[in-house]
Amino acid sequence: MEIKTISDSQKKYFQKIDSLDLELLIAHTLEKPREFVLAHPKYALTRDQELRIENYAKQRLNNEPLAYIIGHKEFFGLDFKINKNTLIPRPETEQLVELAIQEIKNKSQKSIIIDVGTGSGCIIISIAKNNKQRAMNDVKFYATDISSEALKIAKQNATAHGVEKKIKFLRGNLLAPLIGNWKLEIGNSRMIILANLPYLSKEIYNSTSPDVKNFEPKSALVSAHAGLAHYEKLFKQLKKFPAANCKLSIILEFSPEQKPLLKKIIPKYFPKAEIKFHKDLCGLWRICKINILSSRKNPLF
Ligand SMILES: C[S@@+](CC[C@H](N)C(=O)[O-])C[C@H]1O[C@@H](n2cnc3c(N)ncnc32)[C@H](O)[C@@H]1O
Repeated sequence: MEIKTISDSQKKYFQKIDSLDLELLIAHTLEKPREFVLAHPKYALTRDQELRIENYAKQRLNNEPLAYIIGHKEFFGLDFKINKNTLIPRPETEQLVELAIQEIKNKSQKSIIIDVGTGSGCIIISIAKNNKQRAMNDVKFYATDISSEALKIAKQNATAHGVEKKIKFLRGNLLAPLIGNWKLEIGNSRMIILANLPYLSKEIYNSTSPDVKNFEPKSALVSAHAGLAHYEKLFKQLKKFPAANCKLSIILEFSPEQKPLLKKIIPKYFPKAEIKFHKDLCGLWRICKINILSSRKNPLF
């Protein structure tokens, strides 16, 4: 069937492609908002537009996620560029941002915020954009990732949102690029570590949908030891944290079945920590917040 108008394409792919996805693919092709697509069913497509819609539809029918086809995804009300080297930001991750913003809101104390495994940069950029702390100079933002391709996208997103001068992006294994600098920076401050690291066990990864398995980077999703190897490595690195006057919060995202394991593992590394678990919007355990207070008399570990 030839597609000459918007409504022709909607008829052709009816019940084959999710109607919202199709509207967004058409809107992307026409470089117009989705509302335009809804309001102009008889809009005549050029031959080039027709071919592009057909190609995008083929990609979507082959399970390629919409966000990779159009090259961006909304997160925390902001638009983020993404590609095959970055995970597609998920709505449940927005809770990490909310918890971090709450943590620094109206505090006069110096804050250091570190996003470990930043991917597209969606977490740290959303916090930097929404930070209402009075003295912005009192907040330092860092983001690390092992993937230089992901960091390239994160930096582009930071520039697009006007926060490129606020955030230092560093390549390396979790906190490794920052470890040598701890002593210089953390005395009398609060430090917030945000981590949405790879956390799927091999078994869970194998059962994910083709949208995920065939397109998203495996290195952003899978971790050994029931999916917790990256978090354990992060906790081990934090053992090198000096005993300064500092409040440390680690806010991490995990898979619901990992809650009992985390409850066992975290006190082994941080015996004095206060641990709180939060559910996501689907009612599943998803976020863990670990609070640790250190002083010269009471070192962290
Ligand atoms: C689940 S993705 C999260 C991406 C982004 N923070 C988000 O929420 O959409 C995990 C990220 O961790 C990065 N990563 C994996 N292993 C790492 C390591 N050892 N050190 C630093 N980053 C790592 C991956 O490249 C990927 O970008």
